[in-house]
Amino acid sequence: MNIRLARMDDLPGMQATNLQNLPENYLMKFWIYHAATWPQISFVAEDHKGRIVGYVLAKIDDESADKGEVHGHVNSISVLRSYRRLGLAKKLMLLSQEAMVDVYKASFVSLHVRKSNKAAIGLYRDSLGFEVVSVEQKYYGDGEDALNMRLTMKR
Ligand code: ACO
Repeated sequence: MNIRLARMDDLPGMQATNLQNLPENYLMKFWIYHAATWPQISFVAEDHKGRIVGYVLAKIDDESADKGEVHGHVNSISVLRSYRRLGLAKKLMLLSQEAMVDVYKASFVSLHVRKSNKAAIGLYRDSLGFEVVSVEQKYYGDGEDALNMRLTMKR
């Protein structure tokens, strides 16, 4: 398994992985926009044949940059079912978090996750140290609440 920075030619594989794993899907222009705007903070995991088996897609929110509040946001992360519990998602998250700090001086990382998503909450809270900041009622299209989670980054 190889984990590396995502490139433009990875986007179809990332989108296909996302379609298999999550109900939150995005048009190709959304993937391209992220890869073109913040090329250093999204990563992929590939198998020995170069097939994408996992990804993390992230962005930077610098609306409050003047207050020193640049932060990273993880839009989407997923790993194909047969490659789970191998530490791939944790590694993808750590690389993205590190790049957010190194490249953009991000002070924290945020994300939303379904309240019922035990695996992802386990990853964020137990493995990476994220905390729940708030619950956003009916955040998802089907009415499920989201946990708004955050991890403060050390410079
Ligand atoms: N149950 C409980 N804890 C879990 C689980 C699980 N099923 N899976 C992972 N974890 C936690 C554990 O603490 C684990 O450490 P351990 O294996 O030493 O116990 C830690 O996370 C790291 O696990 P990884 O092996 O790195 O995680 P994996 O590569 O399996 O990917 C992921 C986890 C991304 C949540 C995967 O299950 C997945 O793709 N799920 C479907 C898509 C999804 O829900 N994505 C997140 C949506 S929210 C968002 O995108 C911002």
